Amino acid sequence: KAVKPTGVRPSIYIVRAGERSKSMSALHDVLAFFERRNIDRAGVVIAVGGGTVGDLAGFAASVWLRGIRLVSVPTTLLAMVDSSIGGKTGINGTRSKNAIGTFWPPSAVVADMECLETLPATAYRDAFAEVVKYGVAMDRGIFDLLRVERPQLLEGDPRALQRVVFRSVTAKALVVARDERERGPRAILNYGHTAGHALEAATGFRVSHGRAVAFGMRVAARIALSLELCGPRLVQAQDELLAAYGLPDRSPAADPDRVLAAIEHDKKARRGRVAWVMPRRLGHAEPGHVVPSGVVRRMVRKALA
Ligand SMILES: NC(=O)c1ccc[n+]([C@@H]2O[C@H](COP(=O)([O-])OP(=O)(O)OC[C@H]3O[C@@H](n4cnc5c(N)ncnc54)[C@H](O)[C@@H]3O)[C@@H](O)[C@H]2O)c1
Ligand SMILES: [Zn+2]
Repeated sequence: KAVKPTGVRPSIYIVRAGERSKSMSALHDVLAFFERRNIDRAGVVIAVGGGTVGDLAGFAASVWLRGIRLVSVPTTLLAMVDSSIGGKTGINGTRSKNAIGTFWPPSAVVADMECLETLPATAYRDAFAEVVKYGVAMDRGIFDLLRVERPQLLEGDPRALQRVVFRSVTAKALVVARDERERGPRAILNYGHTAGHALEAATGFRVSHGRAVAFGMRVAARIALSLELCGPRLVQAQDELLAAYGLPDRSPAADPDRVLAAIEHDKKARRGRVAWVMPRRLGHAEPGHVVPSGVVRRMVRKALA
């Protein structure tokens, strides 16, 4: 509807909902569609949807004719605050998530808060984990905004949402602008994701990404506290904010040994050391911390007790 008045006649391709669409065969089908419709170098891919659509369509745009323009129209809160920003595209390998992909920044990102009205409640709420992440690791102002505007945000008030989406996008875009290819500072975006990804893997992805990240932030903050990298007030404030957004209200059911094994696996992937992102004070975290494995073991077990 929004494109029609411009005189451009869009070719519409519908992607099946869900992670399974981030596959080689789904990519093949999208590219075959571009070919059938004779999409040339002046073509623009407009990705309307959640993170899965954005990742798939972005990847397809980046390889079609060696790359055509991409416009992102994120329709989930997660896609608005996270996946539509930063230029990462991709599909899953047969065993590993997001293993095949490119860096292909969109020419524009258009986020319309109205889209969020139809989003399932859990998907909406779980996405706040990433916003809490920005608040704790990068921008104290986001943390305060989440605290002060909680009733409006949980109700889906578009003005409050716009403020929080704008600040999240800014926080992410600033760090990506400094380090697009993740060679250094961009790693800060992984706050809460070390134990979080391990929990997802250990539970066969039954725990949602947002809830896993919330768990990961709880673990990371407790590790930081025990290494005297932060004070108890930070841990408490983070716990309270996560709880205020219903995240996580109880420990996820997972086998601690599996979670620890998944963290170890991550270690192998990075040539022997896991680099933890450690919070120092509200709004500021540091990537690249090596944590003694005894401390990791203790905190993971405690968080799952
Ligand atoms: N590229 C990146 O930097 C990056 C960052 C974070 C996550 N991701 C990826 O994003 C994906 C997750 O994205 P997601 O959480 O948006 O999930 P999603 O894209 O799977 O969407 C979740 C569900 O919501 C539905 N939906 C989308 N918009 C809706 C709306 N407005 N109303 C009602 N239903 C709607 C979808 O059809 C789908 O069923 C993962 O594949 C993850 O790997 C990528
Ligand atoms: Zn994440």
